Amino acid sequence: MVELIKRCPEYVAGYKEYCQELYDNHVAYFRPTDPKFIDDEWFFRTKSWYDRKEQGLAEGQPISFHYWVIDNGKFIGEFQLRTEFPEKVMLDIGSIGYAVRVSEQGKGYGKEILRLGLEIAKQHGMEKVLLTINDENKASIRVCEALGGVWKDTIDACNDAEGQHLLRRYWITL
Ligand SMILES: CC(C)(COP(=O)(O)OP(=O)(O)OC[C@H]1O[C@@H](n2cnc3c(N)ncnc32)[C@H](O)[C@@H]1OP(=O)(O)O)[C@@H](O)C(=O)NCCC(=O)NCCS
Repeated sequence: MVELIKRCPEYVAGYKEYCQELYDNHVAYFRPTDPKFIDDEWFFRTKSWYDRKEQGLAEGQPISFHYWVIDNGKFIGEFQLRTEFPEKVMLDIGSIGYAVRVSEQGKGYGKEILRLGLEIAKQHGMEKVLLTINDENKASIRVCEALGGVWKDTIDACNDAEGQHLLRRYWITL
């Protein structure tokens, strides 16, 4: 059974494997933690940063909630939810970030994560979420449209990982 759980020490090794797979495959659409920083102390070293993000106390960061995706004890991916709509969300990162470890892609996890993630967004009292997707990211476009994403527009965007690119914006009404 696929579950979205809060970050916890038990799954740090799985999280590191997932990050390593994305790094090894040069995935630019979603940049997780650099696996070289994930050591035995990492979870506790970073805990207060994630706690502050949830409380809106991390400078320059929208309120954000981080979940890990587990299927029958196996680490599959992650899901991030941002519950506010500042410029950074509207023009760059969107309300939702999600990724599946490369060895588990194409098995339906992406759609299931977004489906479960939208339920979490509802529980947070959100009425809609904005997904921002690189125009070339066919898999994510497919997932978003399958879960009710309505294309809003396509804008110019630029970041370190993806360079200059076109960014599709979709609303999903909850
Ligand atoms: C986007 C992502 C989460 C999708 O997860 P996934 O588990 O592979 O997705 P699913 O197995 O649920 O399949 C999604 C759909 O995309 C389709 N798809 C996958 N790769 C595709 C491609 N290169 N071109 C077109 N369609 C593609 C699948 O066929 C499926 O559609 P269908 O069910 O209608 O057949 C995953 O590819 C990923 O982690 N990518 C890197 C990080 C990322 O891009 N995150 C999103 C940033 S906006």
